Amino acid sequence: MGFIKTISSLKQKLSEEKSHGRNIGLVPTMGALHAGHLELVRRSIIENDRTVVSIFVNPIQFNKKEDLSKYPRDLVSDLEKLKSVGCDYVFAPETNEMYPEPDLTQFEFGQLDKVMEGKFRPGHFSGVAIVVKKLFEVIEPAQAYFGEKDFQQLAVINKLVEIEKIPIKIIPCKTVREEDGLAMSSRNVRLTKSERAIAPQIYHTLINIKKRIVRSNVSELIRSSINLLNNNDGLTVEYLEIVDAKTLIPIETPNKTNEIIACIAVNLGNVRLIDNLKLS
Ligand code: PAJ
Repeated sequence: MGFIKTISSLKQKLSEEKSHGRNIGLVPTMGALHAGHLELVRRSIIENDRTVVSIFVNPIQFNKKEDLSKYPRDLVSDLEKLKSVGCDYVFAPETNEMYPEPDLTQFEFGQLDKVMEGKFRPGHFSGVAIVVKKLFEVIEPAQAYFGEKDFQQLAVINKLVEIEKIPIKIIPCKTVREEDGLAMSSRNVRLTKSERAIAPQIYHTLINIKKRIVRSNVSELIRSSINLLNNNDGLTVEYLEIVDAKTLIPIETPNKTNEIIACIAVNLGNVRLIDNLKLS
């Protein structure tokens, strides 16, 4: 497995690969890898001749300094995991390699980056779009893999590819969960034992919403679900919304033609967790 830290050596390696007619799959990550990330990597390995995994904790997508400094990092263990699944290249640049100078690009994503995560984490999606576009330009993969766990991020990336006319196929991958339903996340390692015991309630609430959506009043269902979750010690719901899966606009009543999805963010102790579930 190749371990590369600079853009120039990565470009050189990949142009060699491409000159042999090999196509590239890209899995962008921020490291602290878990089984969810590794599913994306496995899929890329199956579907492409060579797979590049990027590991870069992208400072410009963190709207709180504390969240950035507390973000888990474990490069040694990440490299072991990636080697064990058969990854070909790991690209792990330093911050000044990615941003020799501040990148002030602005994108117009309409309402996609303004609702939910966008509302509570101003600037977050602009930071995500800047780094992903840069990775796309450097690596020029045929396909890039993203998790549905970050559903809104996936919607923003699809929009980015559309408006910038980037010739890369975006492959969405299902959310990988722990046995008790908690969506895998790098942040889960920061939960205390008691918070970890409460955390599966997030997914159980989404399942409950899915069961009840057809027979319920949407705003009443949201209100009662938030109240139930907030009864757990140390848990505060930041938002719980039921939205159209394409536009991310909240729906008032479910209709049979459009796909809808419940999206949630909570603070559990000082860990912020997100999850979502398709309802139709
Ligand atoms: P990160 O949180 O490390 O996630 C990397 C990729 O793994 C994302 O596409 C994310 O949706 C996916 N992923 C995370 N947990 C998952 C799970 N439980 N099941 C399936 N997929 C999962 O998302 C980012 O990094 C960054 O914003 C990034 C796109 C790398 C840009 O900096």
